Amino acid sequence: MNNPLIIALDFPNKNEVLQFLNPFQDEKLFVKVGMELFYQEGPQIIQEIKEKEHQIFLDLKLHDIPNTVYSAMKGLAKLGCDLVNVHAAGGKEMMMAALEGLEAGTNAGEKRPSCIAVTQLTSTSEQQMKSEQLIEATLQESVLHYSLIAQEAGIDGVVCSSHEVAMIRQHLGKEFLTVTPGIRLNYDLVQDQKRVATPEEARNAGVSAIVVGRGITKAEEPFKSYQAYKQAWEGVRV
Ligand code: C5P
Repeated sequence: MNNPLIIALDFPNKNEVLQFLNPFQDEKLFVKVGMELFYQEGPQIIQEIKEKEHQIFLDLKLHDIPNTVYSAMKGLAKLGCDLVNVHAAGGKEMMMAALEGLEAGTNAGEKRPSCIAVTQLTSTSEQQMKSEQLIEATLQESVLHYSLIAQEAGIDGVVCSSHEVAMIRQHLGKEFLTVTPGIRLNYDLVQDQKRVATPEEARNAGVSAIVVGRGITKAEEPFKSYQAYKQAWEGVRV
C-alpha cells in the first residue's frame, strides 16, 4: 500500500455510491466498502467498483471460529479486493486461518489482499472495556497486546487511532500497517468520533493510510473536499 487516502463509502445503496463517484471519473481512488453497503448490494458492488479501477478495502471485520473465517476469507479473496480485516479478539488461530483462506482464494497471478486487524473499536471506552470485557489492562495496553498477537499471526497491520501509531511503530516496526479513521480537516467537525486527528497530524505520526468518510461524502462539494484532504495528507501546499 502506497499511503492511500481511503474514502469510506458509507452509503445505503448502489445508486448513492454511483452518484457520489460521478465527479471522480478521472481519479483512481481507494475506497472502503463496509457492512452497510455490502449487506445490501452483495459482491456485485465490488465488481462494479473494480470496473472503475478503484482499489477496495472491504471492511467486514470478520470474527468467528477459525474454520468459518477461513472459508469466508477464501470467498472474499476471489472478489479481488486489496484490503480486508478481522477482529483481533477472534484470536491468533483465527487470524492465521483468515490469512490461509485469503491465500487459498486469491486468483492465480494476483496478489493476496492485505489483511489488517481491529484491536479495540474506537467506539469502545476504557471504562466499557473494563466493565464489559473484564479486561484490567489500560486501553493502550490492550491495543498493543492485540497488535502484537496480530503480528505474530502474520497479519499485515491494524486499524487504530492516530494517537496509538507512535506506540505501535515503536513495538511493531515500520512495515506494520496502521490504518486510521477519525480524520478531520478541522476540529469543529468531530461528530461522533472520539479520537480525531488532522491529515497532517496523521502524516507526522507515521500513519500508513487514512480513512475519511463524512468529511468527503457529506461535503457540499465532495470532489473539492477530497482534493483538500489529499493535499493535506500528501503534504502538498495548496
Ligand atoms: O465519517 P468518518 O470519517 O467518521 O468515517 C470513518 C469510517 O471509518 C467509517 O466507515 C467508520 O465505520 C470507520 N471506522 C471507524 N473506526 C474504526 C473502524 C472503522 O471510524 N475503529
